[in-house]
Amino acid sequence: MNENLTPSESNDAVTIARNHLNQDIGLGRGVYVSTYGCQMNVNDTERMYSLLEMANFTIVPTPEEASLIIINACSIREKPVHKVYSEVGTYRKMKDKNPNLKIGVGGCVGQQEKENLIKKQPMIDFVFGTDNIDALPQIVADVFDTNKKIVNAKFEHRAPYHIETLVRNPGVSTFVNITKGCDNFCTFCVVPYTRGREKSRPINHVLTDVRNLILRGAKEVTLLGQNVNSYKSEDGSDFADLLEKVAKETDIQRIRYTTSHPKDFNEKLMHVMADNQIKICEYVHLPFQSGNSRILNLMNRGYTREEYIAKINLMKKYIPNLVLSTDIIVGFPGETEAEFQDTLSMVKEVEFETIFAFMYSPRPFTKAAKMGDQVEEAVKNERLNRLFDVHEEMAFKLVKKYEGQTLNVLVENVNENGKVFGRSTQNKSVHFLGSPSLVGQTVPVKITQAFPNNMRGELVQ
Ligand code: SAH
Ligand code: SF4
Ligand code: F3S
Repeated sequence: MNENLTPSESNDAVTIARNHLNQDIGLGRGVYVSTYGCQMNVNDTERMYSLLEMANFTIVPTPEEASLIIINACSIREKPVHKVYSEVGTYRKMKDKNPNLKIGVGGCVGQQEKENLIKKQPMIDFVFGTDNIDALPQIVADVFDTNKKIVNAKFEHRAPYHIETLVRNPGVSTFVNITKGCDNFCTFCVVPYTRGREKSRPINHVLTDVRNLILRGAKEVTLLGQNVNSYKSEDGSDFADLLEKVAKETDIQRIRYTTSHPKDFNEKLMHVMADNQIKICEYVHLPFQSGNSRILNLMNRGYTREEYIAKINLMKKYIPNLVLSTDIIVGFPGETEAEFQDTLSMVKEVEFETIFAFMYSPRPFTKAAKMGDQVEEAVKNERLNRLFDVHEEMAFKLVKKYEGQTLNVLVENVNENGKVFGRSTQNKSVHFLGSPSLVGQTVPVKITQAFPNNMRGELVQ
């Protein structure tokens, strides 16, 4: 645990996990975690590795070297359970050779499917939910000690969200969870069922984490939650207050956050961003999902097309150099061609530099999955392709403006050939030539070639 945390700020759950830890359980054993899904899952994998290292497991780079394999699976779209079974299937020969190999499934699929996974695929030894990660060392110890199947996928509804960020190597840019769960119940989305009710971390815990990560080399933090704008600290502080404190009361150089929800994106937040522009990046990921207000209503998104556009226009007044990305779903139940056209026109009108677009996929427990009028796969596919075509043409033109500009790039890594990778405040991936000593520095880079997803440039000496 990090010494910089005072005892009252330390993570109760980690302390409990450590006290009950069988320190020998990992001795001589390798662990491999296979990770799918969003940054939440990536961060959860870090937490699993950190906890299992405390139990003396060795982290190994391939499943072949492991005595413990964990699949940290995502359930957001398309046949996620099937993906888990097919991955487990690839471990059959390894399990035949070594019956002591243990296989576990966690993440949103573990939470969603619970014991069903073991019933259908007996090669799986244990299943744990998104709220049971701190119990992982104990679960694993029991699995190895007793050879029994274990399922632990209950939400700890009453437990406060008091954790300490656990990452093995924060690097230059790192993520800090500020909320977990989601209470929005968008009708297409499984997350409220796989991540449970929304909870926020106390503001001082987040600040302590950021300060500790800076001591470990971090220059940039991304504050993370399914809907960061609905953050509410126990002392009543909201997301804008938190962002301002991270900017003003820590030495972090850059701050990003994701994901924000348009319905909760308020003027106070825009004001804080504008006031702290040196630290808070001018890049915002603001999913709009559909450009048509009838579909938005069916999605239970809580805003109309016009309200979304009005917020963007207001944001641009506060932050004139604002860069936007978004998430879009095509083929939501009942979406007509004309309604899809509204999505296309929205992409053009707002001029998103980056889009993440998906075909609607029916998810368990959700209202939209039960709606009539499901759109045919071929139609969804065709709409998605048209959307990407329209965006690509626009994005190539939009990013040309960066050619000749000098951007401030925070260097994340340099390979042995001197190829440097970093990101600009606009969240553009920039590649140029330089020395390893640049890692962790923010340097001016003149852009020579700009593409929608990456750019080439030259270091300004
Ligand atoms: N909390 C974030 C989104 C998390 S899920 C938000 O509200 O913006 C990431 C993206 O996956 C969503 O923005 C949505 O575009 C997509 N998505 C979620 N459920 C989906 C589904 N059932 N089918 C297709 N795409 C989906
Ligand atoms: Fe899902 Fe909506 Fe919550 Fe995002 S805000 S996680 S899309 S329910
Ligand atoms: Fe997937 Fe769960 Fe994230 S469903 S997108 S891993 S919150």
